[in-house]
Order: sequence, then structure tokens, then C-alpha cells
Amino acid sequence: MERKLSRRAKKIIPSSIQELSHLAQRCSAINLAEGFPDFPAPPHIKIAAVSAINSDFNQYRHVQGVCDNLAKMMKERHGLDIDPLTDVAICCGQSEAFAAAIFATIDPGDEVILFDPSYESYEGCVTLAGGVPIHVPLDPPQWTLDSSKLLGSFTERTKVVVLNSPHNPTGKVFTKGELEIIAGECCSRNCLAITDEVYEHITYDNLKHISLVSFPGMQERTIITSSLSKAFSVTGWRVGWAIAPTFLASAIKNIHIRLTDCAPAPFQEAALSALRSPPEYFESLRSDYQSKRDYIINLLGGVGFKIEFIPQGSFFLFAELPDNCLLSDVEFVKKLILEAGVVAVPGRGFFHTNLSSDEVSNLRYSYQKRYIRFAFCKSDATLTTVAEKLGKLLDAKGHLVLY
Ligand SMILES: Cc1ncc(COP(=O)(O)O)c(C=O)c1O
Repeated sequence: MERKLSRRAKKIIPSSIQELSHLAQRCSAINLAEGFPDFPAPPHIKIAAVSAINSDFNQYRHVQGVCDNLAKMMKERHGLDIDPLTDVAICCGQSEAFAAAIFATIDPGDEVILFDPSYESYEGCVTLAGGVPIHVPLDPPQWTLDSSKLLGSFTERTKVVVLNSPHNPTGKVFTKGELEIIAGECCSRNCLAITDEVYEHITYDNLKHISLVSFPGMQERTIITSSLSKAFSVTGWRVGWAIAPTFLASAIKNIHIRLTDCAPAPFQEAALSALRSPPEYFESLRSDYQSKRDYIINLLGGVGFKIEFIPQGSFFLFAELPDNCLLSDVEFVKKLILEAGVVAVPGRGFFHTNLSSDEVSNLRYSYQKRYIRFAFCKSDATLTTVAEKLGKLLDAKGHLVLY
């Protein structure tokens, strides 16, 4: 009966690193792998969610106030006018908003430009829609965008450029110059852009998030996707949105209604409180995460990781294995689980360079196999426990040794 599966379903296979998640579960390893906080959500939005449940907001629901608040935020943050009645689709997290945006725009054979490394979900959605992912590598160690690589990847079939800034897994915030190049190419090639801005409120060292939509000519061709998940530490509430010109937003809404009908009603109500949070909320979010970033950099840099790129946003550290470490990323994480009781993500899961898998495995020490992603969206207690666990595995020079 397996032959009955669609060709597209067969292409979406479990990732090669899933085995490590099972090992981590068996070993009860501390989870620095997944990008969800292990500390409570902000009280003001929990109160709003409880109150919505007590008020019996139990049925299918579209909370227009969420769209109104997002329109207000777009004006304040990016100076853009959007119509809250027609230009916003509330979805189940950024994940559904992104999938619906891809289904709304991609026909089989259309090419979609993705930067490499990138968040794993994009490629799967493009493939499910029958699109062709085209990967443009960002150059390590600073993950810079080489404009000639971007320009060289456009063809007549390019339909969409996907941009995630602040970036998972590197923590890169694309510079204004890089954004100008991307926007310029989208306009001159008459392409659409889909942005993933889930980390828009999490930037460091006074760096400000700039949305691609704010560049000349971009508003008419950009679908912004984002959510409550990261900015409000509620990845399980599943409230996100797509903001786009009316013809796109309305196609996304139609697809969303077929897929899930609506985002969870009580959490849409709580989103109203979240989106009205005062500036101090976002300032303390940033400063708390900046302290955690500095802590993990000191910890991992101190035990021998090469940290040439300091995250500018998001809550991941993409750390390079020490030069003298002969293990690959996957081998290292396996030992990290077994010996330290800590799990992180082998970097190769985020690379999709257009190399065949044979080529990648021959490049044993290619940079695609030298990075480990650590999520630092964890309580101070969790981070201290990690430090204690790693502290037991140090050599005389204070470097981490895994056997
Ligand atoms: C870059 C990026 N986009 C989207 C998501 C998922 O967002 P949501 O929970 O809103 O679906 C994640 C989660 O890790 C992410 O890192």
C-alpha cells in the first residue's frame, strides 16, 4: 500500500538527524537543540488566554483586532500603510502562513531562491508545492551575501525569494546593503519575496530589524510571515500571520481556511494583549536574550569552540568545531549526548547546497559538517546546568574532550 503515497509525500522524509533526537530522549539530555523556551510565557498574555477560555471563545474565530494591531505595528515599525481588513491573514503560526504563501504563489517548476544555510521547513514546503529550491550560499564565517552568487541564481523561472532575517541558524541580521541588493533584484526581475520575520523583536547590540518590505518597490511584491511564537515564548499557541497586498493575502486566507480554518480562538484573543505590549516588554526580551547569548558564547568559546560570528539576532549560536576536533558535526553531537547529557543540532541539517549527497559525504571536513547549532532560549538554570555538565569533561587546558 505504500505505493499509494503521492510522489510529493515520498520526497518529505524524516531528517537524517532525527535518530539523534531519539537518542537524546533516551538519555534525557538537556535540550539545546530545539528553538523553544523552557521558561514561562509573559503573565499578561497568559491572563488574557485564561480569560478568553473562561469567556468561552471556543468556536471558529477570526479576531479582526489582531489584524488592526498588526497594521498599527507595521506603520510604527516600518512606516507602511496596510489595510487590516484585506491585507492580513491570521494563520496557525508562521509555519502555516509560510506554507499557504508558497501554495498561493508556486506552480510546479517555479524556482524559489533560498539562502543556505536556512531553516529546514522552507525546502519541504517548496517541494510539496512542486517548486524547485535554488540555494544561494552565504559565505562563512560571517555568513555574508555575495551579490554575484545571488545574481547568478536567478533564471526566467525564478518566482520567489525567501528571506529570513534575523536568521536561523546563524543569528545573522542581514545588513541594509544586503537587503538593498535583494530588493533591487526582486524588483528588476519582477519576483515576489516571502520574508520570515519570527525573530524581528530579538536583535542585539542595538541593531534594528529592517524589513525587506520597507525598500522601494517591495510592498507590492512582499509577503511578510511572522508569529507570536518567539517574541512571546509561546511556540505551542500557534498564532501567526501573513501580511501582503490584497490579492496575495486573500489567496493565502482561502488556502488557510481549507487547511486549518482558523488559528486557536482563545490564543487569537491573547494575541491582542501580546501585540499591545509596551516597548519595555520588547526591551527586556532583547536584553534577557542578549545576556543569555553572552553567557553561551563565553561558555562554548571557553571550552574550545571557534566562534567567529557573534549572533546579531534570533536565539541560536552556530558554533564551529575546534580545528583539532576530528569528529564531524553528527559524531560530535552523538558524543555530546552520551557523554555530557546535552543535545544540540548538527549544522548539516541546515545546509542544502546543490551538491549531491555523495559529494557532501566526500567532503568530510567541508564547512557544512563543522557547525553545531545551540539554542540559548533556555532558563538561566538550564544554561548553568549545561556549564556544569561540560565542566566535567575538560582537559588540562580547559577544553572539552569527548571520546
Ligand atoms: C526561522 C523560523 N521560522 C519559523 C519558525 C516556526 O514558527 P511558528 O512557531 O510561528 O510556526 C521557526 C521555529 O523554530 C524558525 O526558527
